[in-house]
Amino acid sequence: MKVLGIESSCDETAVAIYASAGGLLAHKVHSQTALHAPWGGVVPELASRDHVRKLPQLTRELLAETGLTGADLDGVAYTAGPGLAGALLVGVGFGRSLAYAWGLPAVAVHHLEGHLLAPLLEADPPSFPYLALLVSGGHTLLIDVAALGCYQVLGESLDDAAGEAFDKTAKLLGLPYPGGAELARLALTGRDGVFKFPRPMLDRPGLDFSFSGLKTAAVVALRNCDGSEQTRADLAQGFEAAIVDTLVAKTLRALSQTGRRTLVIAGGVGANRRLRDQLRLKAAERGVKVHYPRAEFCTDNAAMIALAGHARLVAGETSDLSIEARARWSVADLVPPAKS
Ligand code: KG4
Ligand code: ZN
Repeated sequence: MKVLGIESSCDETAVAIYASAGGLLAHKVHSQTALHAPWGGVVPELASRDHVRKLPQLTRELLAETGLTGADLDGVAYTAGPGLAGALLVGVGFGRSLAYAWGLPAVAVHHLEGHLLAPLLEADPPSFPYLALLVSGGHTLLIDVAALGCYQVLGESLDDAAGEAFDKTAKLLGLPYPGGAELARLALTGRDGVFKFPRPMLDRPGLDFSFSGLKTAAVVALRNCDGSEQTRADLAQGFEAAIVDTLVAKTLRALSQTGRRTLVIAGGVGANRRLRDQLRLKAAERGVKVHYPRAEFCTDNAAMIALAGHARLVAGETSDLSIEARARWSVADLVPPAKS
């Protein structure tokens, strides 16, 4: 079975083809970063319009590259939520229409299920069950993944997502949007311990996160410092260390609580080097195996959507013809695939 995957939930337009034989055949991503950069954040209407422009073009390129046509495909999978309503509607409408025109079954995919399954795109995939730390621009979640469609949210951010905290502090530091990776780069030249930020919620039991106070601490620190390049780097280093330490501590707590022996790190912040290195080290000490998708599959992409949709279509699940986008959709509401 060959499945076309479509992703348009935020500011990346992406398409991919995943096959039962051969896995990921090809994928394409167009990032709208340059489009939104002048505004310092994603402008929903601009995002939707750009998805309209780019989806047909990327799909044509993908088909040309793989030498496939609609007649060679067996299904279409599209991200139906959560995300920006208008942006989602473009991908949902496009995916449903292609499926209708080509006479194929189609399935709505939850964006976060895509992220959770992204490590399955790699050569040494994790097997169920596993614990997942999903850290992106919109989400900070610790999820127990028992099987496909069986997700229990163990902890989440009560305010800003980790990526959002990275982006807001990067903006304060004058770094271009989206600033997570830029802040991490600046932190490389920062000195350890010059700025000591709080580790939010570590003193409390439970697995929830809170990052908005950390951002306020960064505002205050920046106001009271000399603003030199070295000081900015020191501040970036201190901020990154505080977020990473918090994420690592709660993840280790969740591992103890669940007894899981496999850990998956997913989402855009999962590309953070310091987070990866620390989790690999700490998990190894406990005999826990860590899996990461490659960096390009940590951030938004359609390969993970094609893979998730493929798993559901193979099990016989299909979605009806309605063009429905779900801007808000809890991953805990998902169920295992069922024959439609
Ligand atoms: O998963 P993603 O592409 O989009 C969402 O679904 O939200 O994640 C994007 C987020 C942004 O906040 C970005 O700043 C952050 O991931 N990010 C990073 C790094 N690379 C991307 N944050 C910290 N360190 C990085 N290296
Ligand atoms: Zn995402």
